[in-house]
Amino acid sequence: MDRATWLRERRTATVAEYDAMASEYDTLGYPVTLQAGFVERVALLCPAGGTVLDAPCGTGKYFAVVAATGRRVVGIDQSAGMLAEAARKGIAVSLERLGLQEMAFVAAFDGSVTIDAMENVPPEDWPRVLANLRRAVRPGGPVYVTVEEVADEIVERAFADLAARGLPVVRGEVIEGDVAGYHYYPGRERVLGWLAAEGLTVVDEAYEAGPNGEWGYRHFLARTPRD
Ligand SMILES: C[S@@+](CC[C@H](N)C(=O)[O-])C[C@H]1O[C@@H](n2cnc3c(N)ncnc32)[C@H](O)[C@@H]1O
Repeated sequence: MDRATWLRERRTATVAEYDAMASEYDTLGYPVTLQAGFVERVALLCPAGGTVLDAPCGTGKYFAVVAATGRRVVGIDQSAGMLAEAARKGIAVSLERLGLQEMAFVAAFDGSVTIDAMENVPPEDWPRVLANLRRAVRPGGPVYVTVEEVADEIVERAFADLAARGLPVVRGEVIEGDVAGYHYYPGRERVLGWLAAEGLTVVDEAYEAGPNGEWGYRHFLARTPRD
């Protein structure tokens, strides 16, 4: 199988996985905590009454955090099931079924948050997704992205196994276990390179490990160029 076909199949699997878990997603325990604080910071960096893009928003777990600051929130997601749950919250001013790769907003938002989702994006698509976020946010606005990291052994084991099965994988990709059909772990240095290439200046960074230490999230708060 060629890589483009395989990645299309993986993306379809990810949509199906999130559609299937949407109704119970908000009841699943969530063992990391820094996200909400970063979302509040992004919202407060936006002008009063401004609008934050939550992409992808999932069930809208962080909508209330934005709304509590007096800012408006718009959500996009590629899973209709997750969007239906987000709509139930009645907080977002608009919701659209849309992929990160397909967003074409131009300076439509004061800031953006991309939480616990970039692991579903393959390396080929990272530059396009970051370009889409940068274009969506007004000059100088905040762009917050989380990036999952896992232990090297997990990456190496998955790469050896998938390559042995003849799949067109690159190192960092995992398709089995708790990965919603597909995860890619680029590592901090590669992400910093992609952010810089897009003109996104990192203004704060943090890392929080999950409970067993085998995985965690890195948090990047960046600014779009002021041009
Ligand atoms: C773990 S959930 C996180 C949702 C939300 N940001 C949160 O923190 O609760 C990941 C979400 O990303 C969405 N997603 C994954 N890949 C996507 C893509 N390429 N374009 C749009 N949405 C995507 C999934 O449908 C799912 O709703």
